[in-house]
Amino acid sequence: MIKQDENTLKNIVGHAKEYGFVFPSSDIYDGLAAAYDYGQQGVLLKNNIKEYWWKSMVQLHENIVGIDAAIFMHPTTWKASGHVDAFNDPLIDNKDSKKRYRADNLIEDHLAKIEAKIDKEITKAADRFGESFDEKQYRETNPRVKGYQEKIDQINEKMKISIETGQLEGLREIIEGEGIACPLSGSKNWTEVRQFNLMFSTEMGSLAEDANKIYLRPETAQGIFVNYLNVQKTGRMKLPFGIAQIGKAFRNEIIARQFIFRMREFEQMEMQFFVKPGEEMEWYEYWKNFRLKWHANLGIESDNYRFHDHLNLAHYANAACDIEFNFPMGFKELEGIHSRTDFDLGAHEKHSGKKLQYFDNQENRSYTPYVVETSIGLDRMFLAILSASYQVEVLEDGSERTVLRIPKPLAPYKVAILPLTAKDGLPEKGRELLNELRFEMDCTYEEKDSIGKRYRRQDAIGTPFSVTIDHQTLEDNTVTIRDRDSMEQVRISVAEVKAHIQAQTSISTLLKKL
Ligand code: GAP
Repeated sequence: MIKQDENTLKNIVGHAKEYGFVFPSSDIYDGLAAAYDYGQQGVLLKNNIKEYWWKSMVQLHENIVGIDAAIFMHPTTWKASGHVDAFNDPLIDNKDSKKRYRADNLIEDHLAKIEAKIDKEITKAADRFGESFDEKQYRETNPRVKGYQEKIDQINEKMKISIETGQLEGLREIIEGEGIACPLSGSKNWTEVRQFNLMFSTEMGSLAEDANKIYLRPETAQGIFVNYLNVQKTGRMKLPFGIAQIGKAFRNEIIARQFIFRMREFEQMEMQFFVKPGEEMEWYEYWKNFRLKWHANLGIESDNYRFHDHLNLAHYANAACDIEFNFPMGFKELEGIHSRTDFDLGAHEKHSGKKLQYFDNQENRSYTPYVVETSIGLDRMFLAILSASYQVEVLEDGSERTVLRIPKPLAPYKVAILPLTAKDGLPEKGRELLNELRFEMDCTYEEKDSIGKRYRRQDAIGTPFSVTIDHQTLEDNTVTIRDRDSMEQVRISVAEVKAHIQAQTSISTLLKKL
């Protein structure tokens, strides 16, 4: 596993800025909270993640098609989807520190601490009992572990009821009863818990006066639901089938910190899979497995991922889980897989008065399809890649190198062309190769500074291969090609360069392994 310390996130934020991956938005005005701009390396990495997602979902699945819906949608969309009435977070302020928190997050962090106590007990017992240790039995019989688990279950149950019924004093009771303190000041002086709607609204000029309030979409999924019939009819789609989309979403998050993990403007990659009612659990399992495989396929160590089943199911879901990733700040949600029943299509049918059904030829009847969705935040995926890739290595000679071991097909540049010196015809030879490769892949070219410094710069932006053009190149048309991860260099002929790089860096190599 990648070693992470408390400074890792800070170092990654610094590195991302220094090397053109991510800048604070409107940086010259000291930035805007929870908004970020992607720089010259960042946009390439982001595009590669999108390409991997899109091709694996749309190109590789015969029964999945894509759309690109508008960010602005008819306001009734959000009434139907439940966002106007229920897209709220429970907010609580600490009166002393004046800091604002999500009450459920404070409680979840508290639960994680109790879980950590259980883990500690288990580790101790495993050391004590050695090979004969039976974790399941220990969890069921050890009084301390049982006590912790009961406490977790009680708190979870109370939190679930409070959220479901909107009785927010229940959350406040947990916070007070458990003595949860403000993480910043240690104060336990809390306000009441209040609901806060996360949708951004604005006004649209052309609508009638009383209906001119319009929302920035808080998820891309609704653009898919309202187009279900358009796509099904025009694409002559048969169940089961999916509609995929990548696009911006906006949420007025109460606390937006931890860099690009929680932003107010972000991008989602979502796919709604429409199935026959009764078959949704089968597809839910399929998509859980497929999505985990998609992540594992990148070669990041598998213990960085885990499933987290939702205990508090939304009223319309009959199953839901997250794929969590081991970010520098611990395991957190990276992607959600949700079985959403016929809630969304049913609600849009009711509010629009349009039939959003499917005629099943075999059964000779119409019904509202059920939906299993996969939803991943592009920015979170970017952060996952960046944090798993960022390493500071101490080399044999005692010097340090910072390297981004980005999965090679996702790296911003696939190759750097580096003439050893800026004279003797080497730049011309280098540009000749560049002009051939740039039709197939993103390349960069550098002739300034010592070759060692140039290698370090390429390591720091994650370029998988560096090709050095030297005097021997002019004689026998061979170059050295250096691998970012092993730092090994081999001499190959210029004619082999393209195939050598493509074999390890093209998105199709990834797709073929799925
Ligand atoms: N349509 C379902 C949906 O939107 P969600 O769990 O609210 O579900 C899905 O969001 C994914 O979107 C999350 O797993 C996360 O990766 C990403 N996401 C949600 N809010 C985000 C935010 N404020 N900043 C960055 N990514 C976010």
